[in-house]
Amino acid sequence: MAKSTRLYQCEACGAEAPKWSGQCPACGAWNSLHERHVTPAPRAGALLAPAAGAEPCDLDAVPAIDQARTPTGLSEFDRVLGGGLVDGAVVLLGGDPGVGKSTLLLQALAALADRRRALYVSGEESLQQVGLRARRLGLADRPLRLLADTVIERVLETAAKERAELLVIDSIQTMFSEALASAPGSVAQVRECAARLVRFAKDRAVTVFIVGHVTKEGALAGPRVLEHMVDTVLYFEGEPGSRYRMVRAVKNRFGAAHELGVFAMLEDGLKPVTNPSAIFLSRHARPVPGSVVTVALEGTRPLLVEVQALVDAAAAAPPRRLAVGLDGGRLALLLAVLHRHTGAELGNRDVFANVVGGVRLGETAADLAVLLAVRSSLYDKPLPDKLVVFGEVGLAGEIRPVPNGEARLAAAAKHGFARALMPAANRVKRPPPNIDAIGVDHLDEALAALERI
Ligand code: TYD
Ligand code: MG
Repeated sequence: MAKSTRLYQCEACGAEAPKWSGQCPACGAWNSLHERHVTPAPRAGALLAPAAGAEPCDLDAVPAIDQARTPTGLSEFDRVLGGGLVDGAVVLLGGDPGVGKSTLLLQALAALADRRRALYVSGEESLQQVGLRARRLGLADRPLRLLADTVIERVLETAAKERAELLVIDSIQTMFSEALASAPGSVAQVRECAARLVRFAKDRAVTVFIVGHVTKEGALAGPRVLEHMVDTVLYFEGEPGSRYRMVRAVKNRFGAAHELGVFAMLEDGLKPVTNPSAIFLSRHARPVPGSVVTVALEGTRPLLVEVQALVDAAAAAPPRRLAVGLDGGRLALLLAVLHRHTGAELGNRDVFANVVGGVRLGETAADLAVLLAVRSSLYDKPLPDKLVVFGEVGLAGEIRPVPNGEARLAAAAKHGFARALMPAANRVKRPPPNIDAIGVDHLDEALAALERI
């Protein structure tokens, strides 16, 4: 049976204090502290739940706590974190082995080391290996504390002793609790270690980064079962053979989800790429069939990306449809619209669609660009030069508005595009002066507009 502990709670503001005093330390009210018994949650896994016996309160009685953020100075990392680190936040950084997770966190920690007492716990590499990497990154002189250990109880004890304010656990799969008999990396161990880390972070307002390896199949026990326990989930991705790396926020309790940070992995570490549009556009001397540039919104940032399609005679029945960086179901839907509303014959043709640079387009705003790329390849007819296309396509062939049309248009203008084919409903009152905004309501109109350019 878990031992109950004493707590004092302020009637006025709800703040809790371990000791009784005449005046509430939080709101200053007099004689407002009353004793309350709390039974700690018996299982580590249950620790995320609010304390048992908590009383309901009015919404407006909840004190407003300002979530102060500490920027790391790595601009693209701060972007995905929602501006910087939040004290007491737990961030999971998942990704394939070798993508650069350890490098990114070592750089972030080193950048913060003057402002936050930082402890880097490595369960995978020896201190020599971590030291070697730090030297390669030119960070060997930073006031960083390192620890090579895998027993979570000892790690947390050390972190407490060191009064660490920032903790990196690299990786969760190597950590284990002596309280459990199962092997490190098992679901039970990963969950238990994470639960302890989360409690540690919340109790002491320590920011904790947890590194987790995921395989392509997502088969490895770990990160997936942790997603609901942590505040922020970041995925680190990179195309094999490419030096560009993308960090994507798939969940963020302290900022916008789906924010994208872009880095280049160089000899001396990860460098933020502040204008990623430049790398997602392939350089064609003149327009080529099957290529259309669209403006995607990644989190809060508009990104110019190139959508490519290739339509070819089917080698076998049924014809193949392959979407890379796009939803396959969405592609099928767009092909049906293209057939039904423009009479394009695709029944005996293979269709491949691809987004350049390893970007994944989840939004329907890319519909019109995908559809026009397929059509352009089918008829072997390039689209006009310096054209950018965005808009959602409905089943009736209507072009529907998309969020943030104005920001998309501004981004296209900034990157030197001369015209934008876009939903009429998105047309802005005062478009940027150097871009021609062509608003259309229906696919027919869009095709007619293309003929006129
Ligand atoms: P690493 O951070 O160890 O990946 P992870 O922790 O996700 O497994 O990075 C591994 C790769 O990055 C490795 O192949 C070497 C490369 N790298 C560079 O190209 N430049 C550098 O400055 C560093 C430190 C690593
Ligand atoms: Mg590593």
